[in-house]
Amino acid sequence: MAAPCSARRALRQRRKPDLSIAPELRLLFTRQQISRRVAELGRQITADFAGEPVILVGVLKGAAIFLGDLAREIELDATFDFISVTSYADRRKSSGEVKLLKDVDQSMEDRNVILVEDILDTGLTLAYLKKMLVARRPRRFKVAALLDKISCRQQPIQADYTGFEIPNEFVVGYGMDYAERYRNLPDICVLKQ
Ligand code: PRP
Repeated sequence: MAAPCSARRALRQRRKPDLSIAPELRLLFTRQQISRRVAELGRQITADFAGEPVILVGVLKGAAIFLGDLAREIELDATFDFISVTSYADRRKSSGEVKLLKDVDQSMEDRNVILVEDILDTGLTLAYLKKMLVARRPRRFKVAALLDKISCRQQPIQADYTGFEIPNEFVVGYGMDYAERYRNLPDICVLKQ
């Protein structure tokens, strides 16, 4: 016999349990917390640019997922570009040197540019990219960083839109990796030492 409507509704509404987190990880932000905060940032950006087109420049590879979600929360004419740099030779601490691996494809001149970063740590990467992109004379230049390890800063620089401030811990998930792993975790986790 078919289940009554109320029972079927209850079954449909039952949430899938979260995938269990691997033992080397500790949950820091759930996908729901991330999604709520990204929506807030999207609303802020939409209001700040008041109907003007924007170009979102994602810093590969860590910012790819954040950019995809943020873009869908921005109610403006938004286009994408990507840039790639490297600074973390052993993937756990910054080498202090930033190297450009891939430049943007388009001109930034007279455009509203929002540089999208997954994490701001020492600030060396952002300082390098900001100097390079501002020299191309965008109309406005803003930075959106999902995470900010403010206590690690070596350069006096900050994002215009920040998702969460975090302590000095190594985080993975939602685009961020350790040796290229964990980028596809929907949540943000601390990788235990
Ligand atoms: C991360 C992040 C930033 C940079 C921030 O990139 O995406 O670009 O580090 O660190 P900083 O403030 O100390 O310069 P990473 O080099 O890990 O590359 P990935 O995004 O490809 O993982």
